[in-house]
Amino acid sequence: MKIAVLPGDGVGHEIIPEAVKVLQATAKGHFELELEYGHIGMTGVHATGKPLPDETYALAKRADAILFGAIGGPEYEQWIRTNKVRSGLLQLRLNLGLNANLRPIKLFPELASVSTLKPEVIEGLDLLILRELSSDIYFGEPRGPVQNASGERESINTMRYTESQIRAIGHVAFKTARQRKSKVCSVDKANVLETMQLWRDVMKEVGAEYPDVELTHLYVDAAAMMLIRAPTRFDVIVTGNMFGDILSDEAAMLVGSLGMLPSASLAPDGKGLYEPIHGSAPDIAGKDIVNPCAMILSAAMMLRHSFNRDKDAQRIENAVRAVVGRGLRTADIMDTDSRLVGTKEMGDAIAAAVVS
Ligand code: IPM
Ligand code: MG
Repeated sequence: MKIAVLPGDGVGHEIIPEAVKVLQATAKGHFELELEYGHIGMTGVHATGKPLPDETYALAKRADAILFGAIGGPEYEQWIRTNKVRSGLLQLRLNLGLNANLRPIKLFPELASVSTLKPEVIEGLDLLILRELSSDIYFGEPRGPVQNASGERESINTMRYTESQIRAIGHVAFKTARQRKSKVCSVDKANVLETMQLWRDVMKEVGAEYPDVELTHLYVDAAAMMLIRAPTRFDVIVTGNMFGDILSDEAAMLVGSLGMLPSASLAPDGKGLYEPIHGSAPDIAGKDIVNPCAMILSAAMMLRHSFNRDKDAQRIENAVRAVVGRGLRTADIMDTDSRLVGTKEMGDAIAAAVVS
């Protein structure tokens, strides 16, 4: 198992060591890990002058899977703007063809009281947001500043989808739903946007090939509301790049914290990048307070999707659940009666629970 490990910026440097610790505990006596580290993000800029250094890209290309921490922060955003280049993460997603972003939103019952929603609304919550990751307004051309006859500043971005891009994510949605509760809800804005009318048409066509899977459609505004009102009605939500970005942060609050949510970004050729949904959180970086669970659960997703080791993935997931169940909590999931621990102590406890 050749794994490219890219900590990135901010809290990335704190969560990656915890995920590696847990992976090594899981591997012991079961499988061999080969880890190779690379720079990305502002760390890449400092090291080589590029947010995605050539050697990091080569490493990501030749690895079987990529474990990714987080990138970003005010300095990085300013650098990206000034130098007019795409963020290292977006370059990776685009160049590696990572089109399917799986964001499972599963409630650990032990954390029900930490959510801002009523326990009865989120009881049994287990949904998957499948976000198309390689197209949409994130990558659509034309983009950027445009000439304006009046001299006023004007800038554009373009929401674009081709039929084949929609078809590809559609098939992932229906195949994934078959392994779950066989329900797909496609989220679009077909009442306003032509791009999204095409999205809906193609989803219906793909859905016809899966008569055993229920297909429904929601406009994104209604979906945002329904996620808060009755989230357990959903099984698989399939949506575009931008809507998926927004809805997945919203959905994070259902399970208590953004710090609990992992993700997998998969390419049709099988390449996978695994990262927490949260970002580099510069405001809390370097203080040993960030929750490492999202990163650790992303490593579990890597074992499942890139290496076909479902049992080992489950060992990690069970360990996380056991540790939060024992009341060990980072600040973001802190509860009365719980014991506040730091990032490292949380990682140690999870690594120990995997072994026992
Ligand atoms: C995410 C993040 C990224 C995105 C940012 C960091 C570019 O918010 O993965 O959800 O918008 O895709
Ligand atoms: Mg996001």
